[in-house]
Amino acid sequence: MKSGTLRKEHAGQAVVLNGWVQKQRDFGELVFVDLRDRSGICQVVVDRARGASEELLAAAKEMRSEFVVRVEGTIVQRADSQKNPKLPTGDIEVVAMSIAILNRADTPPFMIEDDTDAAEELRLQYRYLDMRRPSLARNLVLRHKMLTATRNYFDRNGFIEIETPILTKSTPEGARDYLVPSRVHKGTFYALPQSPQIFKQLCMVAGLERYFQIARCFRDEDLRRDRQPEFTQIDVEASFIDEEFIYSMTEGLLAEIFPLADIPAKPPFPRMKWQEAMDRYGIDRPDTRFGMELIDITSVARGISIFESAQTIRAIVVPNGASFSRKRIDDLTEEAKKLGASGLAWVKFNAERNSSIKKFLYETTFDALRNALSANENDLALIVAGKQTVVWDVLASLRLRVAKDEKMIPAETWHFLWVTDFPLFEWDEETQRYFARHHPFTSPAIGHLDLVETDPGNTLARAYDVVLNGLELGGGSIRINQPEAQKKMFRALGISDDDAQTRFGFLLEAFRYGAPPHGGIALGVDRIAMLMARAESLRDVIAFPKTARAQDLMCDAPGDVDQKQLDELGIAVKHDSSS
Ligand code: AMO
Repeated sequence: MKSGTLRKEHAGQAVVLNGWVQKQRDFGELVFVDLRDRSGICQVVVDRARGASEELLAAAKEMRSEFVVRVEGTIVQRADSQKNPKLPTGDIEVVAMSIAILNRADTPPFMIEDDTDAAEELRLQYRYLDMRRPSLARNLVLRHKMLTATRNYFDRNGFIEIETPILTKSTPEGARDYLVPSRVHKGTFYALPQSPQIFKQLCMVAGLERYFQIARCFRDEDLRRDRQPEFTQIDVEASFIDEEFIYSMTEGLLAEIFPLADIPAKPPFPRMKWQEAMDRYGIDRPDTRFGMELIDITSVARGISIFESAQTIRAIVVPNGASFSRKRIDDLTEEAKKLGASGLAWVKFNAERNSSIKKFLYETTFDALRNALSANENDLALIVAGKQTVVWDVLASLRLRVAKDEKMIPAETWHFLWVTDFPLFEWDEETQRYFARHHPFTSPAIGHLDLVETDPGNTLARAYDVVLNGLELGGGSIRINQPEAQKKMFRALGISDDDAQTRFGFLLEAFRYGAPPHGGIALGVDRIAMLMARAESLRDVIAFPKTARAQDLMCDAPGDVDQKQLDELGIAVKHDSSS
């Protein structure tokens, strides 16, 4: 039996526990030792009054935090007055009959307890101590159970797990690659896979029909709480299928794994087209657990002189937001500007009718605005005018922030959603060219292939994302399987035939030998585990995670290498590089 699993129904049983000393309290003839293992903590008692020998008391007195011990004893129910309702094992204690100290420990750099206030950096440096905290260990157990259920699910459904290379060639997910220099072929590099995308498609060409992999992926991109430079995907691909197959296969999986964490996931999940998601929420992974949707007020607000030339004007209405202080509104304005808005206009629908655009608001416009927004007395409208993409971005972000601050997001509510009908391309202002919104192997919507060349901005894709509570769990698409269509796509992306040949020639060639229709999806394991564990950060569900600056503080990676290693690789390091 394990420490954390002992309950009052076990009273009377003999038990052997191995673990670590959480803490020891010495009352002379009576010593309490809290013993911890992966499952939790239970109280061990060494009590002269209950027959403890001198020797046993001496051993108990010697114990210090993090000593490794083995305790043999009997589980007994505690007197009511002695029960500890804060501990799941608080109804019982183990009366020790023998104690062996298996190893001693230095004083740890922080107290190992669930409610730790130790700095995260310190905990990451001593991650093996951090993982002794039962809450973190529990998250890792949950992740393991989720992955075991995933493997069983796909096995049952005729999918086979196939490992694909880690030392490979650049893959097209749009982030920067992690490169590995080749010693044998000096001056050349492998790239770590950003995903197994090309390999899984080649598995389909190979006729393997149903593939999955718990796949490690590597992306050198700006990190956030929901991004790690190396992360894990449940990667899936199947042949002779369509979108409906992917939806139901994914829903079936999520309906099996989320309940492991008492989270209901009931198929079929609702679906929303990308355009609707953007119009209502300003974002392609909307959090639909609360309202405060974006409202298009272009036609009403165009009449307000400062908005005259804006491409679009949209607003959100904060219920009872008229009480927001100047400071709060200034903070929101600051955020809007950071995201590219020229400013944030606001209107308070209270008696004073305060507004940042008061002098432009004539009585009629004020009423028209209120009508268009269906605003109630004491509501606050936050209005952004400008380019559509900026307006969406800013309002999506303000919507979330206000909802969080105002505690509008209901706890323990789980909204799964498919977002479908994505545009195939995304226009990049900076480089003045189109990028593949998903990746270049995504098929255009049925009947849209010709638009790829004639009207890329309006070409839709056979792509889909699955979203939970505003977080993108996964995304995928039905793929192009015709070499000519693939070439067309590359051309639209500004990738010349020669370039396409160098980068993806092997895939284009494979398509000439009978590529079946196929498609797939990849789900973020870390994100799923984070939501299941109700954790705040991916770091809480990864055994050895990296910091926001992509470092492993425990083993101090990335680190320097010997000159000899560099010489073998034919690499000279430029130390003056400013980036
Ligand atoms: P995509 O790039 O959308 O698709 O990735 C799929 C899912 O992987 C997770 N994810 C991440 N998780 C943690 N840290 C990161 N840096 C990170 N980046 C992505 C997300 C995301 O939804 N090859 C395609 C899939 C396909 O077309 O089948 C792909 O990788 O949960």
